[in-house]
Amino acid sequence: DGGDRDTLIKAHELAVKLYHYLLMNTTHGQAALQYLRKRGVTDKQIDHFMIGYAPPEWDTLSRFLEKREFDSALMEKGGLLIAKQDKSGYIDRFRDRIMFPIWNRDGKVIALAGRMLGEGQPKYLNSPETMLFNKSRNLYNFHHARTAMRKSRRIVLFEGYMDVIKAWSAGVHNGVASMGTALTDEHAAILQRNVDEAVICYDGDNAGQAAALKTIPILERAGLRVQVAMLPKGMDPDEYIEKNGAEAFMRETIEHPVSSTKFKLLTAKKNHILLEEEGQKNYLLEAVGIVAVLDSPTEREFYLKELSREFDMSLDSLKQDCFERRQQLQ
Ligand code: UTP
Ligand code: MN
Ligand code: MN
Ligand code: MN
Ligand code: MN
Repeated sequence: DGGDRDTLIKAHELAVKLYHYLLMNTTHGQAALQYLRKRGVTDKQIDHFMIGYAPPEWDTLSRFLEKREFDSALMEKGGLLIAKQDKSGYIDRFRDRIMFPIWNRDGKVIALAGRMLGEGQPKYLNSPETMLFNKSRNLYNFHHARTAMRKSRRIVLFEGYMDVIKAWSAGVHNGVASMGTALTDEHAAILQRNVDEAVICYDGDNAGQAAALKTIPILERAGLRVQVAMLPKGMDPDEYIEKNGAEAFMRETIEHPVSSTKFKLLTAKKNHILLEEEGQKNYLLEAVGIVAVLDSPTEREFYLKELSREFDMSLDSLKQDCFERRQQLQ
């Protein structure tokens, strides 16, 4: 009920303050702080995103909450604690991890994510689905990004926490992340109420590209115009910013996204060996199929012309193939 929800939110807010304090002011937090600094995370980012540290002990948060008379069973339901196997009590869910609060649309903390200080599995541990936290509806940083997204009528979609945080300092104030889960129709509907356009800026690896291809139709079905900001192979936004700086990130990627169609064409191209005639032909046919789904005749002609120039083909034959593909779509 509402009382439980309020109590849980209060517990989350306290946990975030505790973890932030431990990171910034205690020796327990020093290795974590060092890790963040090594990754280029600034104090300003730590403060703005209320980053913290959960120490390795089993009972840091559970004792903290018990002392303040929070019901441990409720804290377990909310994902902050875990019941011991033998049911003799509760332990902290998050231990020895860098902590990121996850806010709801009203700016209330409803979940947490914890990153390991090094390599290992799972890299990030997130709160489970709870009465507060619904992954298919929540986007990381949505509440912060709201003002900027409404002003620009545009949202930038990242995969992860660090991407949002680094990009925020680079000047992308309308950035959110789907936190590794696939973007849902519900996410898209929420975005559609606030913006006209989405820029997908996923990781420059195969997984990121595949995710972008899946995300495009979801956003377009919701009525958004979609563009894709592409990154060099194998780099994610956070790495790009660390390596090349904020200015290059803005100039080379965010400010020059390609249309969703162009992105599909570029991705399809990578699957064909254009040095061979067979590869060229197969790519052209796939490309025509990509163009064929576009509703606007002008847009279709625009891309077909580009293909006709690129492969020295007559526009007529491309148009004819495109027409036939459209017939098959009906
Ligand atoms: P990535 O694997 O790209 O991680 O997952 P990242 O964001 O670049 O993380 P860093 O830079 O190594 O710290 C993208 C997002 O998927 C979710 C997280 O939200 C992450 O930011 N994820 C990933 C998980 O929830 N759990 C995982 O174990 C891994
Ligand atoms: Mn602070
Ligand atoms: Mn990734
Ligand atoms: Mn990544
Ligand atoms: Mn990363």
